[in-house]
Amino acid sequence: TTIPKYVSRLYVPPAMPKTLNAGDPSVDYYEIAARQITQQVLPKPLPKTTLWAYGSSSDSKTFHSPSYNIEAKFNRPVRVKWINDLKDGNGNFLPHLLPVDQTVHWANPAGGPEGQDSMGMDPNPYTGPVPLVTHLHGADVVWGSDGYPESWTLPAASNIPAGYASRGSHWKQIDGSEDEAGAATYQYTNAQRATHMWFHDHTLGMTRNNVYAGLTGNYFLRGGASDLPSVALPKGDFEIPLLIQDRAFNSDGSLFYPGDRAFFEGLAKKKLRIPFIPSKTVDGKDSDVSPIWNPEYFSNVMLVNGNSWPKLDVEQRRYRFRILNASDSRFMILKIAKDPTARPATEASPIWVVGGDGGFQPQPAKVNSLLIGPAERVDVVVDFTHVPKDSPLYLINEAPDEPYGGGEGGTDYAYADPDTTGQVMKFAVIGPATSKDESVPPEQLKTLLAAEKLGAPLTVRKVSINEMESGTVFADYNADANGNLVSIIEDPAGIPFGPTISMLGTMDNTGAPAPLPWMDPATENPGNGATEIWEIYNFTEDAHPIHMHLVEFQVQNREPLQPDLNGMPMLPATPLGAARGPEAWELGSKDTVIAYPGEVTRVKARFDRPGLYVWHCHILSHEDNDMMRPICVGSQDD
Ligand code: C2O
Ligand code: CU
Repeated sequence: TTIPKYVSRLYVPPAMPKTLNAGDPSVDYYEIAARQITQQVLPKPLPKTTLWAYGSSSDSKTFHSPSYNIEAKFNRPVRVKWINDLKDGNGNFLPHLLPVDQTVHWANPAGGPEGQDSMGMDPNPYTGPVPLVTHLHGADVVWGSDGYPESWTLPAASNIPAGYASRGSHWKQIDGSEDEAGAATYQYTNAQRATHMWFHDHTLGMTRNNVYAGLTGNYFLRGGASDLPSVALPKGDFEIPLLIQDRAFNSDGSLFYPGDRAFFEGLAKKKLRIPFIPSKTVDGKDSDVSPIWNPEYFSNVMLVNGNSWPKLDVEQRRYRFRILNASDSRFMILKIAKDPTARPATEASPIWVVGGDGGFQPQPAKVNSLLIGPAERVDVVVDFTHVPKDSPLYLINEAPDEPYGGGEGGTDYAYADPDTTGQVMKFAVIGPATSKDESVPPEQLKTLLAAEKLGAPLTVRKVSINEMESGTVFADYNADANGNLVSIIEDPAGIPFGPTISMLGTMDNTGAPAPLPWMDPATENPGNGATEIWEIYNFTEDAHPIHMHLVEFQVQNREPLQPDLNGMPMLPATPLGAARGPEAWELGSKDTVIAYPGEVTRVKARFDRPGLYVWHCHILSHEDNDMMRPICVGSQDD
């Protein structure tokens, strides 16, 4: 079945209802649960989809994926009791909707051995109670409320097996209370610049599964000196979040997610350059590669705010869109076009970027197309004032259906399939504005906000992005008439072609990278209050969206590294002296930056709270295995 496009109306999430009885009138209090729901994601009469969603725990009608928005005010704390409510009507835990790989370094609530590869680990999908921990992405927050990947909570279910226990309990609670079963209470100070943050699950080794299952939502912080007067930008009905995520579906409407490494069997050779991953090595031994996890995940349906290819009726006026790429691995190059399938698409309307991850830019940037990596947010204004009635426009995507920014073919990629993932949503222009458009035309928005001064850097810290080959040998496969895999032809003399596992790390003093797994002790340990420049050396073939918790950083520049004969960075890594400054849409504060292959990307950050945080790649399949590292700010016992 093909899914008809532009049938569903764009869903616009309302504000999350607060919970009364905070006991503390100086905070906005919420009790937000994660539950299993069914939702009409695909257009009727296609079946509904079972998902996980956040909602206000006292009102089952508020559960939706993506979540209702949390609306926060500058300097007014938000306290959230995050409840893991993945239980059925009898109080028993619900199993995961998707196959969870137990061989990566993951939460493992049974408390078994923690390991990095599949040696001796259980290769079957996990079927026990699901651990959850929510992180507010972009928040300047005390460490106990950050949602550390190892501080997950199990549901308070009646059938939790003996020996299974939540790990959240060792965190100090905000109000001094003990942990409640199945919940964790976090507090966000909101003393940072007005911006668009988002909350999502962050459980160790299964973030990709929990986010894909639906646990995402927008968090808008407004007000304070870093916000604009409300007249300057379109507001109310004309300010609309667009949370974009790719997903795939089975014919019964359920989410499709690869349950084994054969997922790429058809795609690997035909379309994607991601290798198929055999389960045996050439000499017949079990591969040391995880049985379920795949190096990246791309699916074939584009969702905005929880519906496939929606349409939005727009008036002839300006709109403000708060865009978030919540995909696992997909970068997007967004453009507004008249013809949704022509490539390259002809731009039909510019996009005015007024802000990004960490709030407004110093000045707007007018772009024809907008690159947005996983987890990045872009605050844009689009002007439909002069678009003729009944002349629809489309938001289209010209990034590839594969890893971005490098790869075997250099920068010469195919576009995403123009019939599926190359299209995102439709703007149906229905006629004149029904009320006066009081927003300032974007070209006149001269005074957004100067970037915050971060002070002089104390340290220049060199870190690295690395790719490890699994060493599995792959030659080709025998296919049936449909091109599907029948058997693998392995060739010991062929090219080692295992899945790549990406890892962060440090740089040693010879200028070579030193990859490190999650479980190694923290090597990034800025002093409390220190400003640092991080030089992120990318030794892989792809771009990675690198995210730091706690801080909003400023992109300084990017600089190519001297390549060797194979085009990979020569050692010692040598910047070529041709640094280019941040892109026009990266002039504000950021928390996620695209680090391109063969380059060093420099960012400047001030670490303004002590505690244990993380930095990681926000390709969720990378983050889960094993592209995440702790950051320890200040001394360990602060
Ligand atoms: Cu959006 Cu560490 O996460
Ligand atoms: Cu990555």
